[in-house]
Amino acid sequence: MKISQIVKMLAKNRSGIDAIHTIGDARDISKRKLPKMVWDFIDGGADGELSVVANRQSLNEIQLRPKFLTDISDRDISINIFGERTTLPFILSPAGLATIAHPQGELAVARAAGRAGAIFCVSTASGYTLEEIAEVSDKRLWFQLYLWGEEEVVSSLIERAERSGYEALVVTVDVPVVGKRERDLANGMSLPIRIRPKNVLNTLRKPRWLAGLLRGPDITFASLSGIAEGDDASSIGEYTDRELVDPTRTWEDLQMIRKRWPRPLLVKGIMTPEDAINAVNAGADGVIVSNHGGRQMSFVPGVATVFESIVHAVGHRAEIFFDGGIRRGEDIVKARAMGATAACGGRAWYWGLAAGGEQGVEKVLTILAEDIDRTLALLGQEKFININSNCLHN
Ligand SMILES: Cc1cc2nc3c(=O)[nH]c(=O)nc-3n(C[C@H](O)[C@H](O)[C@H](O)COP(=O)(O)O)c2cc1C
Repeated sequence: MKISQIVKMLAKNRSGIDAIHTIGDARDISKRKLPKMVWDFIDGGADGELSVVANRQSLNEIQLRPKFLTDISDRDISINIFGERTTLPFILSPAGLATIAHPQGELAVARAAGRAGAIFCVSTASGYTLEEIAEVSDKRLWFQLYLWGEEEVVSSLIERAERSGYEALVVTVDVPVVGKRERDLANGMSLPIRIRPKNVLNTLRKPRWLAGLLRGPDITFASLSGIAEGDDASSIGEYTDRELVDPTRTWEDLQMIRKRWPRPLLVKGIMTPEDAINAVNAGADGVIVSNHGGRQMSFVPGVATVFESIVHAVGHRAEIFFDGGIRRGEDIVKARAMGATAACGGRAWYWGLAAGGEQGVEKVLTILAEDIDRTLALLGQEKFININSNCLHN
């Protein structure tokens, strides 16, 4: 074998799908493949990023009770979500501009999620339109709605999502202003994307990503085409604040949406029992407990710290989902033990996409499924649906 073939083989093993054994591997590989400004956009959080860290720390502090010598031969990790059997109890959280990680963006994610039996929640800020994404997937999709822009914009997004067959609407409430993402400011990460003197060298070192960028669609909020057309490149946060965010929104807007949307309605970005009660009183069928992956503020606790208080407040009236810091299947089992219907996650699939496109996302989802199955076995449990607080260490 020639040296060049050996080098090629080693390089493939270092950054190919086969090298992904954990979500952390997908993160490492995506770091090697993406320009710094893009990797930081995905990995980073708001301000001092304390809430990014808190999400992981609070999950790490939860421990489970193992149980042995029970028959665990017939294991099943599936659950019912709003009456539908769901193979994987992990929802791919809405995360905008996936085309920045891979030219196939959300199309690749929708296909991979469909094959894994997971629900993909498509962002308002997706890189492909919500119709294009629905077209490639005959599987389960939710649509995430920001209350951005004029009333007609919001109404038209709701209508389009309904027409395209989205099963549930997820209204994200935690962006009355966009958080200060300091890494984006330092890197000159902007919309529209500009390669600036400060990021040119690093970007040129990622020729594959650059080729993908040139080959792929423009990096924009595709479903909002014609609405946010600002040409003046500024940080993604400033751009979104200037072009889209509407700080006048209240719970009354949610009541209006409830009247218009006939399928399950969820509210994402809840961190307190009071807001969870507001959401359910306004008509939500589900609550996604989330601090936006620490991307909005850095002064709030980790999701696992507040989760059970929210389950106690509204768990008897709505489905409660856990979102933030999920990196392993055991984290999903912990969320269930704390009272979640299922868990959601953003960076995990985003890193998979950057590391290996559609196959990378599929690999990440396979790892999570295998982790959940193994964790069930070690807890002496056969069914994910039977996981409850008895599985918690204390
Ligand atoms: C790159 C990126 C973009 C995101 N865009 C959105 C979005 O458009 N809408 C939304 O509700 N949340 C968005 N989020 C937050 C995720 O939905 C989710 O709350 C967060 O990723 C959960 O934390 P985790 O990444 O640790 O799993 C985004 C997250 C990331 C990483």
